[in-house]
Amino acid sequence: MRVDQIIYNAGQLVTCASQAGPKKVLKKGPKKGVEMGESGIVENGAVAIKDGLIVAAGPSQDVMRDHEAGNTIDAKGNVVMPGFVECHTHLVYGGHRLNEFELRIRGASYLEIMEAGGGIVSTMRHTREASVAELMAGAGKRLGQMLALGVTTCEVKTGYGLDTETELKMLHVIEELDRTHPVNVIPTFLAAHAFPPEYKEKPDDYVSLVCKEMIPLAAKWYAASHFAEKGTPFFIDVFCEKNAFTLEQSERVLEAGKSYGMKIKAHVDEFTNLGGARFAIENAATSIDHLDAISDEEIALLASSETIGVVTPTVNFNLGNTEFADARKMIDAGCAIALSTDFNPGSAPCPSLPGAMAIACRYQKLSPAEALNAATINAAFAVGLGNKIGSIEAGKQADLLILDISDYRQLAYEFGGNPIDQVIKTGQSVYQASV
Ligand code: NIG
Ligand code: FE
Repeated sequence: MRVDQIIYNAGQLVTCASQAGPKKVLKKGPKKGVEMGESGIVENGAVAIKDGLIVAAGPSQDVMRDHEAGNTIDAKGNVVMPGFVECHTHLVYGGHRLNEFELRIRGASYLEIMEAGGGIVSTMRHTREASVAELMAGAGKRLGQMLALGVTTCEVKTGYGLDTETELKMLHVIEELDRTHPVNVIPTFLAAHAFPPEYKEKPDDYVSLVCKEMIPLAAKWYAASHFAEKGTPFFIDVFCEKNAFTLEQSERVLEAGKSYGMKIKAHVDEFTNLGGARFAIENAATSIDHLDAISDEEIALLASSETIGVVTPTVNFNLGNTEFADARKMIDAGCAIALSTDFNPGSAPCPSLPGAMAIACRYQKLSPAEALNAATINAAFAVGLGNKIGSIEAGKQADLLILDISDYRQLAYEFGGNPIDQVIKTGQSVYQASV
């Protein structure tokens, strides 16, 4: 068969494809529990690509025998793996929070800073003031850093506008990012991220504004956007937390989003367990994120559900915490866990999924294979695109990385560097490390 491109001589072709059951059939679902320990390695592997899709992946000799291509890439014995899927970010924002970084070093906590009017609301002020061009420049630069670190798909949330006009401006920026950047972007509406100062004394009125005005307008925006045209899902999200949204307020927001056809994500149990995990799971949430304070009963519920649990250990690291979400316990209980940087200016100014893997292995006791599956195939399911991206399998989008290492475990073993040599997005080379 004639194809466009073949990548061959991959010392390890790390497919992240699920092999389940006694006959090792490919499974169409996230990896749960022990499956997360299987990285699906083919030694001396190759991938054939046609029209931006993977048409074959397997031992080099088989792929080379059955396919011919004008364009071939020699992976030189190195690792070839799926592009990273970053499933939780707050990339679009104005300003920075360097002052809070220093306050935290001197002992202030994230929640104390938030209570004193800093935190998310401080970024809100800068985001309201920023022009679309300024927001695009900042977010585009950050997305470029992530691409260089191997991200080929990235979820991006609103949530620093906290008024109708600025939340819609953020949605516009998110759509422009997707149009202009090689990384595919997935939009999430997070107007319920914090209460803006003008509603501090009447929080329920803000929830009404979100539910009755913003969500309908966001749904209208999505219907006319190119995301709807491309079949990219649109998510509703809420920060269910002390000093943010109560369980009842979170339920109102998620139910309103759901009634407009949005899929559910929720920030739950980052610091405090308010019961949001159970509500989100029972409402078929695509993902619940953070999970530091999740209970054993909720872990069991998560394990028996289709919902992905997203952990963000970069937040704990950045906040100087020594406690982390117990992802080990969740995987052992049979949950499907994904990993994210949660890139944002406050709790995690970090573009690096390899960095998140390094932390997850050390402090959450994930194996390198578990951390890798968590940042690829399971992260793809966490953005509702598990059947299109996240693993190297025939029929999936050809989003691939060629690394500068010959054993995938080096991704988590080394830290602070960048082992990505080349990023291929829908069959096109979109990033090459300078030599
Ligand atoms: O996921 N928890 C809420 N949202 C972000 C933090 C955003 C910020 O501090 O600006 C998070 O940690
Ligand atoms: Fe977040």
